[in-house]
Amino acid sequence: MNIQKSNIHPLFTEEQLQKRIQELGKQITEDYKDKNLILIGVLRGAFLFLADLCREINLDMKIDFLGLSSYGDRTSSSGIVRLTSDLSLSILDQDVLIIEDIIDTGLTMDYLYKNLETRRPRSLKCCALLDKPDRRLQSVHIDYVGFTIPDRFVIGYGLDYQNQYRNLPYIGVVEGIEDN
Ligand code: IMP
Ligand code: MG
Repeated sequence: MNIQKSNIHPLFTEEQLQKRIQELGKQITEDYKDKNLILIGVLRGAFLFLADLCREINLDMKIDFLGLSSYGDRTSSSGIVRLTSDLSLSILDQDVLIIEDIIDTGLTMDYLYKNLETRRPRSLKCCALLDKPDRRLQSVHIDYVGFTIPDRFVIGYGLDYQNQYRNLPYIGVVEGIEDN
């Protein structure tokens, strides 16, 4: 199903996103001096955020990705998380920063923390562009948050609705779709 343009209301413009990403990049640059930073992007939603954020971090780093999907493909996850593609790099003794698009129920991040911890990184933290705390089912610690948002379904800048709209350069709220 396609969403009518008139039902998409901009929440964060390109400029607002880039400004906040610059701030996050500065903070991360400070915090990870003298560390072995590895950014891990969660596919597919975080691909644009990681691409912009990594260029605002003025440090040597490695970059890797993993793919996750949670069953249930409308506007909320079922909570059953599946690893669809694993990291290529080892994270043993590395300072891992997970890059996520959005934390909603918290179930995905809880799964990821538990999975990655078994690989014995030196440190394991998370940076999420968006946080929707009202929908939390599992409490998770998020170290860096771009924006905290209300309980609304959002698309664009990596975030999808039925695998579309990831390429919108801004983040928009969608009116009139079921969010169960
Ligand atoms: P959680 O496990 O419920 O925290 O879900 C996290 C994942 O659900 C995110 O990585 C997104 O892929 C997806 N998600 C949650 N809320 C939204 C939204 O408003 N728009 C698009 N995707 C979302
Ligand atoms: Mg995601």
